[in-house]
Amino acid sequence: MKIPIIYFSSSGNTKYVAQLIKNGLICANLEPELVPFNSLKRNNLNFEEIEVLGIGAPIYVMTFTLNMLEWIKKLPMVKKKVKFFLFDTNAGLPGPSIKQIKKILEKKNFKFIGAIEVIVPTRDSVFESKYFKYVKWSRKKIDKIFQFGIKLAITIKTEEGVLDWSNSTLFGSVIRAYFQKLEKLFYKYASYLIGYNRSECIACKACEKGCPTNAIFFKTIPVINHKKCILCFRCLRNCPNNALYFKLLPKVKYFKGPKTIRGYIPPDEILKEYSQLNAFSNKMTPKRSSS
Ligand SMILES: Cc1cc2nc3c(=O)[nH]c(=O)nc-3n(C[C@H](O)[C@H](O)[C@H](O)COP(=O)(O)O)c2cc1C
Repeated sequence: MKIPIIYFSSSGNTKYVAQLIKNGLICANLEPELVPFNSLKRNNLNFEEIEVLGIGAPIYVMTFTLNMLEWIKKLPMVKKKVKFFLFDTNAGLPGPSIKQIKKILEKKNFKFIGAIEVIVPTRDSVFESKYFKYVKWSRKKIDKIFQFGIKLAITIKTEEGVLDWSNSTLFGSVIRAYFQKLEKLFYKYASYLIGYNRSECIACKACEKGCPTNAIFFKTIPVINHKKCILCFRCLRNCPNNALYFKLLPKVKYFKGPKTIRGYIPPDEILKEYSQLNAFSNKMTPKRSSS
């Protein structure tokens, strides 16, 4: 059974969630494949072969990142119903993103089977804040994500039910409706508002190296491909000398990343733990008599 899990992750949170879900599915004897969004061109999707599609993204301005959103909108209508599940990571304000993506895909004949939204004290933020100095993964959260993978597998195998998710509904929907109009304008023009101060630039190429969508190319100065830019502001944040800045907020302090990441457990360790548990419970299960 072909189960690609397409994910985009700029600072690693969504990648971690994707790996945990993948391992949850593996634990239930399925064989999913992780596909980073940036490698998609080489991995063209053949929906004749795909049975289940997983899609995950960070939330930026209360929706999936622009690159994912645009890609999802361009997915073809599928002839047979391809099942799909969604996941996102956010800092507590996901808005009705899942609802939005679900609607787009259902119109293309995909069949929703579940979603999970994961709040993380962020590893990724635009502006400096004392609250965003660390990321803490709780064991409970890690288990919940892994078990979501297992539950998905059951849903896939038994063809039963849909795993629902708790979503911020009315409040989020109202804000989102307004945002969406503003956002279109913002996304179209805001990357043109990234200023460059040549005298501060040390040509370290941190802007190019750190760009998660390869939208910056540094030749003698940084050149932005406005079509690829998703406005994560990582180039501004990565610049050690503040040579890049947002023209509307020239003096603002940008987030340089969390000081510590606590509670992280490698996804393979979790899989090992659960597999041992499984082996143990199999041994403990009494054999049925043949009569
Ligand atoms: C430009 C930008 C916009 C963001 N907007 C939101 C938002 O609207 N709501 C929210 O809850 N989190 C928001 N976040 C936080 C990210 O969704 C969160 O840190 C996410 O886990 C990052 O995922 P990644 O590590 O996979 O890149 C934003 C982060 C950035 C950089």
